This record gives sequence, C-alpha cells and structure tokens, in this order.
Amino acid sequence: MNSTKIKEAAQLIRKAKYAVAFTGAGISVESGIPPFRGENGLWNVTDPIFLEIEFFNKKPFQSWQKIKEIFYDKLGDAKPNIAHETLAKMEKRSFLETVITQNIDHLHQLAGSKYVYELHGTYKNMVCTECQSEYDLSFANLDYLPPTCFVCKGILKPDIVFFNEPIPHFAKKRSFKEAEKADVFIIIGTNAEVLPAARIPEVAKENGAKIIEINIQPSHYTNTITDIFLEMKATEAMREIGKLLYL
Ligand code: APR
Repeated sequence: MNSTKIKEAAQLIRKAKYAVAFTGAGISVESGIPPFRGENGLWNVTDPIFLEIEFFNKKPFQSWQKIKEIFYDKLGDAKPNIAHETLAKMEKRSFLETVITQNIDHLHQLAGSKYVYELHGTYKNMVCTECQSEYDLSFANLDYLPPTCFVCKGILKPDIVFFNEPIPHFAKKRSFKEAEKADVFIIIGTNAEVLPAARIPEVAKENGAKIIEINIQPSHYTNTITDIFLEMKATEAMREIGKLLYL
C-alpha cells in the first residue's frame, strides 16, 4: 500500500516544476530531538511560559535556565538524519526549490540545504535585547546566565520566536510566496497548530499544489488538503523517495 503511494509521491516530485518542503519537529525526532506535542512532547514536561516573551523580558535568568536545558544542552550534539539529507540532495539535483521549516535546530543547513526559511528562528544566533547586535552562538558564554552582549552588556536573547512574538518578516513573506509558487508541496512531521505557519500548506493547496504528507499519524491536514499521505517515519519515507529519485 505504502509502496504504491511512495512511487506516486516520487513521480510527482520528479515531474514537479517547483517543489517545496515544509517541515516540523517530526523530521528531527530521529535525530534525537523531542517533538513539542504528543506522548514524548516537550510541552508535557516543560511549562511553555518559559518561552513567552513577556516572561523572558521579566525573568531572563529563569527563562534562560530552562531554554539552555531544553535546547542548548541537546541541540549541539544532534546530527541531521536521512530525511534532512535527502531533502538537501533533492535541492542539489533540482528536485526541490526550498525548505520552509518551523524547526530551530539548524539541521537542514547542516545536511547541506542552501535555501531554508526558518519561520521560528534559529538557536544558532543570539540577538542583544538592548543594542540589537547579532552574534553566532559560539560567541555567547552560556556558563553564566543570562549571556550578555560584548558591545553594551545587554542581555542576549536566542534568535528563536517566543510565544507572543511576531514571525521574522522576511522568512514569513518568502514562505508564503514559495507556497504560492509550488506545484508540489511536501509536508513532513508537523501538527502545524501554530499560526501563521499552519496556513502555509493551505495556501499551497489553494494555489493548485499537490500535497504530499509524511507523518507517523494523521494530522489535521491529512483529511483536508493532503493528496498523498505516507503514514510512516520521515526517515523511512525519505529514504525510499531518495532511492526512487536515484539520489
Ligand atoms: N516521522 C514523521 N513524523 C513524526 C515523527 C517521525 N519520526 N515523529 C513524530 N512525528 C509527527 C507527529 O505525529 C506530529 O504530527 O511530527 C509532528 C510533531 O508535531 P509537534 O510536536 O506539534 O511539532 P510542530 O508541528 O513542528 O510544532 C509547531 O509549535 O510549539 C510550537 O514553535 C513550536 O515550531 C513549533 C510549532
């Protein structure tokens, strides 16, 4: 059953004029990064208040302690898996134009993808809350929290989108444009319960794209906009698609 659908998906991708991928936490689960929701979800064990921008502004030390524990102590060791790698190879071989991701883990870039729009920012950058200077993570000292700016000693904030913070303008604008242009749109491992990101696949569908979805279980897209649903792990599905594309 799945093998027929995988062949259909690969065929769609092969023939696509403008294929775009849209990824969420599920693509990185097999790299050892927990998702946000569901049984092993981060929000089951961590209060999301630590990632509200108001809380960060009022109590940066407490917020940073949690952020370091849930992101920085883990993400540094994570490696891209075959799903990230296959997307990167697809881009290289012109089967894929761009990746739009809700992930902050930088694994698409580590796998070699060049055109990545990070809707929720990246843990790899820091920005000063006072003078807006930007730093690579390697310049921030996380042994003393909260880390501070070299220029003005202001508190550094990770360049990720906190709750109640707007999405980075450029990534948002480009992502919606990519969705409009796509004729094949591949959704991988997301519940997409957070707006405006959740709207992006719908915009692709409204503009005529065929929707391929990969997830270990149905999402709210599955019975609404998805054309081909591959109910399997991201690594398994992308490994098979990669073989059929001779990557
Ligand atoms: N392969 C494919 N899909 C998987 C896998 C896997 N190995 N493991 C889990 N999934 C699926 C789950 O079934 C679920 O649909 O990945 C999805 C993960 O969903 P969430 O944890 O809700 O993550 P995501 O959709 O990326 O969350 C969106 O919510 O809290 C915010 O800012 C946060 O960017 C995040 C946003």
